[in-house]
Amino acid sequence: MLRVGFYQFYPAFGEVEKNLRQIVKSLSAVEADLIVLPELVFTGYHFTDRSEAEQLAEHPSDSRTVEMLSDLSLKKDMIIVSGFAEKSGDKLYNSSVLIGPQGLIHIYRKIQLFYREKEIFDPGDTPPTVHQIKGTKVGMMICFDWIFPEISRILALKGAEIICHPSNLVLNYCQKAMITRCLENNFFAITANRYGTDYRPHGKLRFTGQSQIVAPKGELIYRAKSRQEEIYITEIDPSIARDKKITELNDLMRDRRPDFYRDICS
Ligand code: ACM
Repeated sequence: MLRVGFYQFYPAFGEVEKNLRQIVKSLSAVEADLIVLPELVFTGYHFTDRSEAEQLAEHPSDSRTVEMLSDLSLKKDMIIVSGFAEKSGDKLYNSSVLIGPQGLIHIYRKIQLFYREKEIFDPGDTPPTVHQIKGTKVGMMICFDWIFPEISRILALKGAEIICHPSNLVLNYCQKAMITRCLENNFFAITANRYGTDYRPHGKLRFTGQSQIVAPKGELIYRAKSRQEEIYITEIDPSIARDKKITELNDLMRDRRPDFYRDICS
């Protein structure tokens, strides 16, 4: 059994240090094996332009955020998945870090950029991967990746039992869609969404909260409210994500007919 959960948080735009301190303080009181934080949770989301995002982003190898999350992970023996504005040379990615007691384990760079993110970030340049932590296999995707079922599927094919899904959702469809993603892939999904509004000179943007955890077969374990801070932790058995059988004669992975799906890859 594994204790997993999310932290639904309202970042103060541009106040990386303040957000980091608040998150570390809150998580210091949490007992969990795995916790997921929202997308871009230290910087906020609604950047004026790329240069503003660049000023707030960090190189993971020289990042106070990664350092503090690693220290926290070691202290609490808790795996942390978190949104992260990543600088890499002259590139800028909307990323998610996977951090364990040993430090940074992996960085996933969002593949499917949403709306004006295309003017701010470079698109992810590596495929989604799966990592063994505490006896289970986890994969990461970020927010709008949800609408491309290929991303969930490739993570399932690589063996993911838990999808960690940092998000800054502005539309209302994702939470419902993730129930289907879990049903069609028989994995758990932890969607950690932010709430609140980024008020900026060029306009405001409100985020929808309702972070959630969905089990295989599409069972909604818990959904948070739209407008409040919340840390939710529950105990799950990730091994139930391994059996892909739907009936005695149907298996979600083995029954696929990729010969007939080739056009998807064109
Ligand atoms: C989103 O991908 N942040 C909507």
